[in-house]
Amino acid sequence: MTGTVRPDLAEFVRGLPKAELHLHLEGTLEPELKFRLAERNGIRLPERTVDEVRQTYRFHDLTSFLQVYYPAMEVLQQPRDFHDLAFEYLTRAHADGIRHVEMFFDPQAHTGRGVPFQSVISGYRSAIVQARRELGISAELIMCFLRDHSAEYAMATLMEALPYRDWIIGVGLDSDERGNPPRKFAAVFARARREGFLLTMHCDIDQPDSKEHIRQALEEIGVDRLDHGTNIVEDERLVELVRAKGIGLTCCPVSNSFVTAHMKSDEIVGLLDRDLLVTLNSDDPAYFGAYAADNYLALREQAGLAVDQLVRLARNSFRASWLTPARLDGYLREIDAYVAGG
Ligand code: HPA
Ligand code: ZN
Repeated sequence: MTGTVRPDLAEFVRGLPKAELHLHLEGTLEPELKFRLAERNGIRLPERTVDEVRQTYRFHDLTSFLQVYYPAMEVLQQPRDFHDLAFEYLTRAHADGIRHVEMFFDPQAHTGRGVPFQSVISGYRSAIVQARRELGISAELIMCFLRDHSAEYAMATLMEALPYRDWIIGVGLDSDERGNPPRKFAAVFARARREGFLLTMHCDIDQPDSKEHIRQALEEIGVDRLDHGTNIVEDERLVELVRAKGIGLTCCPVSNSFVTAHMKSDEIVGLLDRDLLVTLNSDDPAYFGAYAADNYLALREQAGLAVDQLVRLARNSFRASWLTPARLDGYLREIDAYVAGG
């Protein structure tokens, strides 16, 4: 993937302090860990080798990806399984120059098969605490609702999460977007807002009603951030709305190249050059074979980004985050020092 990137540039990008804002913890399940967890939990997998698992990673759109993604989660059963998943990701992210991450998790993908909410969140939380202490990386959780399930189930999940309010910074919406508009979850997001959660939402690439879904997310739900959302380029009014509200866009170029025919580099770079709050992220790195820095390097290779554009993307990743102003300031100053060679 980074074949034609100069080694010194790859090193520069890996060392550049970055935040990751679009990362599904369940999408970090590498085949090696999947085998270890299957053994721990006495589960027989249909595949025998890591290569065989990777051969099942053939996606042509979001739906075909999700058909591989959800069944793989059956190996996640006990709190320590969720802990190991998150801790392995945080270790890799730390090595990749990620200083702060706001990570999605899908509780319904686990509670729906009988795993208690408490097992999921306690495992993730203990990994966050350990990673903070041992690696110095900071992490927050964003709880996503599955949009292809009912609004009532989402509301019940929100209620189940309330005792853990302090461990969850915001809520999001993911899974299959077709026929599942933001409006379907208006009451759930309104309640989440009242409970003090920040709001974000997937507006996936090239969906049948992408523009209308983005409009609903911005005007009816009042999101604080948009996940993907690059289809705003088709409607100048949406571009201006995103700009006026200061909304961050969490773009995932390598993921885009798996679920559509393109990385959407022209759209991403065009929005960056118009000074929108564009960020780069890995989405589901175990499935798309690219962690955060790989996404910066892949977009650079495709679009010929200059170093100052790469640095702007790193700055944006913190500016679009939900860090306090004081911490944001600290990370931006770290970038300045890094770029100045200090
Ligand atoms: N879109 C929707 N659902 C998802 C995604 C995504 O990018 N990744 C994991 N679940
Ligand atoms: Zn995603």
